Amino acid sequence: MNEAKKTVVITGASDGIGKAAAKQLKNLGHKVVITGRNSEKTMAVAKELEVPYHLCDYADLSQVVRLAEELAAYERIDVLANNAGGLQTALAKTKDGFDKTFQVNLLAGLLLTLLLKEKLIESGATVIQTSSIASNLYGSDFDPSDLQNEHAASVRKAYGYSKLEDALMTRELQRRFGAEGIHAVAFEPGVARTNFASDAKGFLGAFYRSPLRYPFTISPEKGAERLTRLAIGTPNTDFIPGELYSYKKIYRLKFKDPDGMIAKKFFDDCLNLLSPYLA
Ligand SMILES: NC(=O)c1ccc[n+]([C@@H]2O[C@H](COP(=O)([O-])OP(=O)(O)OC[C@H]3O[C@@H](n4cnc5c(N)ncnc54)[C@H](OP(=O)(O)O)[C@@H]3O)[C@@H](O)[C@H]2O)c1
Repeated sequence: MNEAKKTVVITGASDGIGKAAAKQLKNLGHKVVITGRNSEKTMAVAKELEVPYHLCDYADLSQVVRLAEELAAYERIDVLANNAGGLQTALAKTKDGFDKTFQVNLLAGLLLTLLLKEKLIESGATVIQTSSIASNLYGSDFDPSDLQNEHAASVRKAYGYSKLEDALMTRELQRRFGAEGIHAVAFEPGVARTNFASDAKGFLGAFYRSPLRYPFTISPEKGAERLTRLAIGTPNTDFIPGELYSYKKIYRLKFKDPDGMIAKKFFDDCLNLLSPYLA
């Protein structure tokens, strides 16, 4: 474990796993910066933890561009945890014209990472994606030619695909920028009792709202320990860059991409979609 104090940016830290990880990392003496969508919640967490905050709704990519400009003002970013996301209530398009699950859970975090790329390289940063076991439960039939989820049967499936995409993005970030100093890694946090899916319809919403979930779920703090472990960890010692973890073990995907060509094309397709925002 690396003992040096780090500057850690955690997105989606106004609640749940991100908030709990922010608290853990702050208590360990790191400089933590949080982002959230809801201003009241984000400001309350920032006040409680005495950390700087930034507001951004990932359903609007112009806000992500502004967020990147704000974060670029920090002297260094040693860890960028792309944690913001969730289960949408319905399949829908954003004002940017992308499927909302795809944009909020994957594309916005990728845009933020790419806009901060030079700072992340200079800092030798670890870039963490919060993925999920939904990548296997609902996402294993991912169709790389349907990034906009035109053929997704449900928000649950779209969610699974986005969490599989977290793993593809991690693998490809590592392949493209690993030699320049970025260390990408993804993790699944377990099934944690957070605000996740609290307004969702169907099975997942009912499960996450039910008191019966207790024996099958973990606290946000337990889920956050997995993020914290990677944030303070030393790449190639505490984790292998490019991999997806379930706590300390590599989490194997049912979706197969043995030569990494699907991840590569996926990343190229995302770059094309994001080109107006990267110019
Ligand atoms: N809980 C689980 O069992 C579980 C399992 C696997 C993976 N995950 C993943 O863990 C991550 C954190 O979720 P959580 O469980 O901690 O849920 P949560 O308590 O609902 O927290 C979600 C966080 O993401 C932010 N967020 C949601 N939509 C956003 C948007 N459009 N723009 C910007 N920020 C947005 C929220 O911001 P506001 O609160 O300010 O709106 C909040 O800070 C997510 O990526 C989720 O997919 C969770």
